[in-house]
Amino acid sequence: MALASPEAAGVPRHVAIVMDGNGRWARKRFMPRIFGHKYGMETVVRVIDHCQKRGVEYLTVYAFSSENWKRPEDEVSGLMNLVLVGISKYLAKLASRGVRIHVAGDRSKVSERVRQAWHEAEEHTRHNTGLHVTVAFNYGGRWDIVQACQRALADGVAPEALSEEALSRYMALSYAPDPDLFIRTGGEVRISNFLLWQLAYAELYFTDCLWPDFDEHELDQAFADYARRDRRFGGVKTGAASGPSA
Ligand code: FPP
Repeated sequence: MALASPEAAGVPRHVAIVMDGNGRWARKRFMPRIFGHKYGMETVVRVIDHCQKRGVEYLTVYAFSSENWKRPEDEVSGLMNLVLVGISKYLAKLASRGVRIHVAGDRSKVSERVRQAWHEAEEHTRHNTGLHVTVAFNYGGRWDIVQACQRALADGVAPEALSEEALSRYMALSYAPDPDLFIRTGGEVRISNFLLWQLAYAELYFTDCLWPDFDEHELDQAFADYARRDRRFGGVKTGAASGPSA
């Protein structure tokens, strides 16, 4: 018997995650916030493994937003350091499993060491054909739209030629289909300037689970919820009576 494709089985092709709740998770343990981020990193690796197992093709995680610079200096430097630690600890393992790493965000503001580490991760996995993992780092959805417009203008795209499709080619995730499923952990119900352009028709899923506690079971629950959604992309359900839809 032929196995159903992941999509046919209700598994999203592209999952985008706001990994919220690391600070609260650490505070509950009387530990500094960076302790939560460290555990959060382990969760990212577990989630990558599980996405591969389920047949997800693209996973995008929000690791550092354009607004996160407002955090205390030691937390910001701790997060920057975590990039270096994470790459030295996990890059070889992820690469051997076929993961391809991309980084989306404004690199001009991060240190040379961090920029170099991201470059190494991208180069090292450039020929891999497995799960595409995009780390949104110093990323903001508004920044993405502005940088896409700037690059299109610099390329000489004429105003009348600037269609949605044309602009998409300049967006940071131009290599990926739009996310099908957006997950936010940590109990907050907002998008927080993540992938504003790309999330137009994503199914939204919010859970109170704090990111370091988000495990395979939680991810499967999100997938099960997604599989029950009726995606219409602004159209109507085939054979259904008319009614409001989006
Ligand atoms: C939000 O939780 C989390 C972040 C701003 C950082 C996310 C980073 C990781 C999970 C580490 C993985 C890093 C890489 C490079 C892949 P919060 O600190 O706002 O939590 P709170 O709402 O409980 O305070």
